[in-house]
Amino acid sequence: SGFPSQVRNGLSKVGVPPEVLDFFFQWFDSSKDHPKIPEAKGAIRAIQNEAFFIPLYELYLTYGGIFRLTFGPKSFLIVSDPSIAKHILKDNSKAYSKGILAEILEFVMGKGLIPADGEVWRVRRRTIVPALHQKYVAAMINLFGQTTQRLCDKLDIATSEREDVEMESLFSRLTLDVIGKAVFNYDFDSLTNDTGIIEAVYTVLREAEDRSVSPIPFWEIPIWKDISPKQKKVNEALKLVNDALNDLIAICKRMVDEEDLQFHEEYMNEEDPSILHFLLASGDDVSSKQLRDDLMTMLIAGHETSAAVLTWTFYLLSKEPTVMSKLQNEVDSVLGDRIPTIEDMKKLKYTTRVINESMRLYPQPPVLIRRSLENDFLGKYPIKRGEDIFISVWNLHRSPHHWIDADKFNPERWPLEGPNPNETNQNFSYLPFGGGPRKCVGDMFASFEMVVAVAMLVRRFNFQMALGAPAVKMTTGATIHTTEGLKMTVTRRLQSPIVPTLEMPLLQVENSASSS
Ligand code: HEM
Repeated sequence: SGFPSQVRNGLSKVGVPPEVLDFFFQWFDSSKDHPKIPEAKGAIRAIQNEAFFIPLYELYLTYGGIFRLTFGPKSFLIVSDPSIAKHILKDNSKAYSKGILAEILEFVMGKGLIPADGEVWRVRRRTIVPALHQKYVAAMINLFGQTTQRLCDKLDIATSEREDVEMESLFSRLTLDVIGKAVFNYDFDSLTNDTGIIEAVYTVLREAEDRSVSPIPFWEIPIWKDISPKQKKVNEALKLVNDALNDLIAICKRMVDEEDLQFHEEYMNEEDPSILHFLLASGDDVSSKQLRDDLMTMLIAGHETSAAVLTWTFYLLSKEPTVMSKLQNEVDSVLGDRIPTIEDMKKLKYTTRVINESMRLYPQPPVLIRRSLENDFLGKYPIKRGEDIFISVWNLHRSPHHWIDADKFNPERWPLEGPNPNETNQNFSYLPFGGGPRKCVGDMFASFEMVVAVAMLVRRFNFQMALGAPAVKMTTGATIHTTEGLKMTVTRRLQSPIVPTLEMPLLQVENSASSS
C-alpha cells in the first residue's frame, strides 16, 4: 500500500466519493502484488435447476475455501472458509451489505430487517430485538405446545385411518400457525383450514423462492410484469396479505390505546404477547410502511426456516432408529405426557443435540448472501467493492476439514454437558443462525419451537418413510425443500404409563452434574 493509500485515505476524509477514488487509484492498486482468487470455470450449467449448493460443494473440494464463479458478465465469490466467513459476517461486517438478496426480496419485504442495510437496519434492529425478550420467549413455549397439540390431533386421525401423511406441508402449516400468533396475534389455523389468506401467504412465499433461484429477473421486465398471469396473481396475493396486516395493526393499536400502558424492558401484554403489540406499545408508528415490512419479514423468516428444519430432522430420524429411540427415551423421562415448559428446555438435552445436528446437515438457508461495499481483503486475496459473495453454510457444515464423518447424522458429536454449539464456540465452522451483527433475532424462539415440536411428536408417534414413497431429494429456494414431499407412515407409540409428577432418578443425576 504505502504512499498511494495514504493519499487515498486523505482524499476520502475530505469527502471524495469511493467510486471516484476507485477509478483513479486502480493503477496504484496493490492487488498486482497479491495472489488471485482461484477461478472455477465451466461449472455453470450444473448450477441451474438443481439444488445449486450441491455442485458448489464439489467445487469447494477442488478449488478451496474461496473461489470465483463466472457466468457471462456476472461473477460470484463462493466462500467456504470459516475465518473468511467470520471476517465478512463479524469482524468487518460494516463493509458488506445484503446485495442481491435485498434486490430479490424488495417486492415482499421492502426494507424489512432481513434485506435492510445501513441506518435503516441499525434503527430497526434496535427496535425489534427487545421485543423478543426472555419473558416473551417463555410465553411462546405454551403457544408452541398448543399448536403442536393440534398437529398431534391431526396425526392421531391419520393413524386411525391408516393413512400416510406428507410431513413437509404439515410442518409448514405448523410453523405458519405459530409465527402468525407470535408476530401479530393472528391465528391462521392452517392445520385445520384452507382460507384465502393462507393461500395468499403461500403464493407470496413461492414467488420469493422462485425469484431467489431465477437467473433472469423476469419480474422487472416492464410489460411482462403487468400482463403475466402469474405476476398478477402474486400482486393480488401481496395486496391481500398487506391489507390483512393493516387490519391487524389497527386492531392491535386499539388494544394498546385501551390499556393502562406502562412500557418497560420486559413489557408484555398477557392477552396478546405478540411482537406487534410490543412494537406498538414501544411507540412504533402504526401507519409506517416500515412496520409492515418488518412484520412481513418476520412472518417469512420465522416460517419456512423452522418448517425446513423440522422436515429434515424427521427425515434424518427415520434413517437412524438408534438416535430415535434415544430421543424418545429422553422425552419419556423428562416430559411424560405433559406439554413442555420453559424449564424442560434445559432438560431436553439430547433433543436439542438432535436439532443442532439436523441444522448442521441441512442449514436453512444453505447460503448467506453479501455484497462488498468497499475494497477489502478476504484471507490473502484483495477484492473490489461491489463483489457479490455467497457464504456457503452448507460447505462449512459439511467440510471434511472441520468434521469427522461430516455427512453422518451423529448428535453424539456434541457432548450433552457441553455448551450449546453456536458460531462463536465453533469458530464460524457452524452457523445455523448466521453470526455477527446480522445474526438471526429469532434463534432462541426457533430453537425452543423445534424442541417442543420434536419432543411432543416423538413422544406420541413413531415415524417411518412410507412404503413406496418417492425418494427424498433436495431442491432449493430460500430454504432446502424436498422435491416431492416427505411421505411418512405414522403410528401411535405403545408405551407403559408414566407418572409425570415423579422426577426420574436419571434426571436428578444430570441436574446435579450440570450445576456443579
Ligand atoms: C436472520 C436462520 C427463525 C427472524 C437469520 C439468519 C439466519 C437465520 C441464518 C442470518 C441471515 C444472514 O446473515 O444473511 C434462521 C433459522 C430459523 C430462523 C434456521 C429457524 C430454524 C427465525 C424466526 C424469526 C427470525 C422464528 C422471527 C421471529 C430473523 C430476522 C433476521 C434473521 C428478522 C434478520 C436479522 C438482521 O439482519 O438483523 N435467520 N432463522 N428467524 N432471522 Fe432467522
